[in-house]
Amino acid sequence: MEFEQSLSLNATSADVMAFVQGTIEGERNRVATLANISAILNQYLSRINWVGFYLRAFGATQLILGPFQGLVACTRLSIGEGVVGQAAVRGETLVVANVLEFPGHIACDSQSRSEIVVPIHSGGQIVAVLDVDAPELDRFHASEKNLLEAVGRLLGENWGLMTDF
Ligand code: SME
Repeated sequence: MEFEQSLSLNATSADVMAFVQGTIEGERNRVATLANISAILNQYLSRINWVGFYLRAFGATQLILGPFQGLVACTRLSIGEGVVGQAAVRGETLVVANVLEFPGHIACDSQSRSEIVVPIHSGGQIVAVLDVDAPELDRFHASEKNLLEAVGRLLGENWGLMTDF
């Protein structure tokens, strides 16, 4: 699929999904695909300071930093630890309106005030999470949740087809 290098200023979430779909169809390598998807989301989502992936090796109890856009981040998070690790335990999206009030929140970027974490499921396992941080309180609502969950579902469906190299 041919697609333009960047989203237009008036892009919709449907345009984002078309870009994400095109990215998945156009490249089988997992890191390359996740890198471009983090760039697409960073371009589309306003008022955020971090977007990216944490990846879980099969059966592992740790999540390891994957492709992202934003400041240098924590490289390893235990399942159950922080917002990311809690979303992985629960297996469902976690929206935190005020991270300062979330017990165990891990501040990789001290500017972060709200956060959404979407687990990615494949083959009955959590294989990764998609994490987005914002420097303002209560940044994430239904529209962002719906979009990020759709991205997570598409990635989960294609996870096993993607290659490490
Ligand atoms: N805040 C996360 C850690 C990851 S960074 O936001 C990139 C957490 O509490 O799990």
